[in-house]
Amino acid sequence: MDISEIRTIEHDVLIVGAGGAGLSAAIEASAQGMSTGIVMKSLLGKAHTVMAEGGMAAALANVDSRDHWKIHFRDTMRGGKFLNVWRMAELHAKLAPERVKLLEEWGAVFDRTKEGLINQRNFGGHRYPRLAHVGDRTGLEMIRTLQDHGIHQGIETYMECTALDLVKDESGAVNGIVCMWRETGNFILFKAKAIIFATGGGGKAWDVTSNSWEYTGDGYAMAYEAGAELMDMEFNQFHPTGMVWPLSVKGILVTESVRGEGGILLNSEGTRFMYNYIPDRFKSETADTEEEAARWLAGDKNARRPPELLTRDVVARAINEEVKAGRGSKHGGAYLNIATQRSAEDIKRKLPSMYHQFKVLAELDITKEPMEVGPTCHYFMGGIRVEADTSMSTVPGLFACGECAAGMHGANRLGGNSLSDLLVFGYLSGKSAAEYARSKGTYTELDAEQVNSIIRNATSILNRESGENPYLLHEALEKNMQTNVGIIRKSETLDKGIAEIEKLKQSYKSVKAKGTSQFNPGWHEALSLRNLLITAESVARAALLREESRGAHTREDFPGEQPEWLKYNIAISKGANGQMQLHKVGRDAPDRELQRIAKSSIEDLEAEVAKEKQTSNLT
Ligand code: FUM
Repeated sequence: MDISEIRTIEHDVLIVGAGGAGLSAAIEASAQGMSTGIVMKSLLGKAHTVMAEGGMAAALANVDSRDHWKIHFRDTMRGGKFLNVWRMAELHAKLAPERVKLLEEWGAVFDRTKEGLINQRNFGGHRYPRLAHVGDRTGLEMIRTLQDHGIHQGIETYMECTALDLVKDESGAVNGIVCMWRETGNFILFKAKAIIFATGGGGKAWDVTSNSWEYTGDGYAMAYEAGAELMDMEFNQFHPTGMVWPLSVKGILVTESVRGEGGILLNSEGTRFMYNYIPDRFKSETADTEEEAARWLAGDKNARRPPELLTRDVVARAINEEVKAGRGSKHGGAYLNIATQRSAEDIKRKLPSMYHQFKVLAELDITKEPMEVGPTCHYFMGGIRVEADTSMSTVPGLFACGECAAGMHGANRLGGNSLSDLLVFGYLSGKSAAEYARSKGTYTELDAEQVNSIIRNATSILNRESGENPYLLHEALEKNMQTNVGIIRKSETLDKGIAEIEKLKQSYKSVKAKGTSQFNPGWHEALSLRNLLITAESVARAALLREESRGAHTREDFPGEQPEWLKYNIAISKGANGQMQLHKVGRDAPDRELQRIAKSSIEDLEAEVAKEKQTSNLT
């Protein structure tokens, strides 16, 4: 095909994905004077960010004046089991407060403290109430605010437009991307000096997930195909509380705010079982009696946090254990009770979406009865490997931020650190991409052979006479990942899982979507499936290689963290033979000062911070 006949649009900086990270990146790139566009599969305002409900973590210290970036940083590193890229966790903890305040300046209407400050709530793994929130609809407010700000700043949006693959110039740098309008099936080309992926995760490869239809690992797969490295893919998070009943809504998120507001977990025998699952590392910071937990709920700042607020990996595994031991709830989860902890009025005010969600979807009144909840695939800590300060991937000109980038969260993410990650690294990647684009000068011509090959790959799915049904392949993939690459792993099941993925990859070669290219969901499904398969394979292979249990990655056959494995990340790239290749890459030695902060006892660090605050108040 003569590619000059395809509509081509130019942007200095092009962003793929219009969630919190994409919008933040776009706002910054455009603020730097770049012509900026955002391509999105869905409609503006409908990104999956809206599903991060409970809040954004930032050491504003509005509710507990002891909070400080150093304590946020320490919590994040400990939550991530020290596998986080140290510099990213530092940037995040330091910059989150100012980004949250800027969001407020741009119009976000946060809940307030009595003094009129941004209110902050408790969440798992956070030492203090740290999550700035808007009831349990924080992600929605973030998107609403960012899109409003961005549009008025002149960002161009391309809705219902699917990105297919990247194009590179002779030097190997990214210079464009081939996309397809979902409505018409027509192709569109973008020339860009820099491209930022903000495409989110790939939870749709699992059967039970909180993720929306868009979460098909598109950024991972496109980056991988373009030669970029993926990293830490074995660490995907199972949020402890998804709905388990009715089946039509299984997996939908039940926000951690329910526990942040005091909700407790019970098994079928009525036992508050989390007391039995407190890891040694967190013993000194966790309440181990009902009496202390009750004091915490009543606002006693000296009481330790209840065990329901342990990190997500711990809580998800505990629920899993209770179910396995035959003490699960009626439909195979645990009971989450807020009704006995808070007044009906409080529940409706602080958790309006949860109240509504259970009323409408499960015919259950959470102000009177417990919810049934269980683990649901929620988040990828791993993703595209990026440089900490610039967010640039290993392919020049390709940047990544938000969930699709690796490094910030290590082996396990703390709840609420995602929304602040989107603000911080969205901003930083927009800034770096703008600088990079400026240094590039002019647009370069897209290589016709690459463009044609991308288009042929896409249309072959429609053009072959017969073949495999994409929906059935996707269903088989979900079952496989749920069964063989789930919350608890071992080499036997991982091997099985990989073998099944290999079979599905073979079948995918002859995938066939019936019908024409015009709004054809079967075709869209088939296109996403390639990305899901690459995502699933990278998770399964990395999970097999990492022979230890750390954070969200639990190996039944290799229990416990192994100090040797803390020295490595697993990086993944496409080999010259087209096969997936995994490499253990040595981690950089941490900055001494950061290491000191992260490893300090909480008492020492609190004393240090108090002294610092006192000194800065005096000056
Ligand atoms: O539970 C939640 O509200 C989810 C938040 C997050 O993943 O950060």
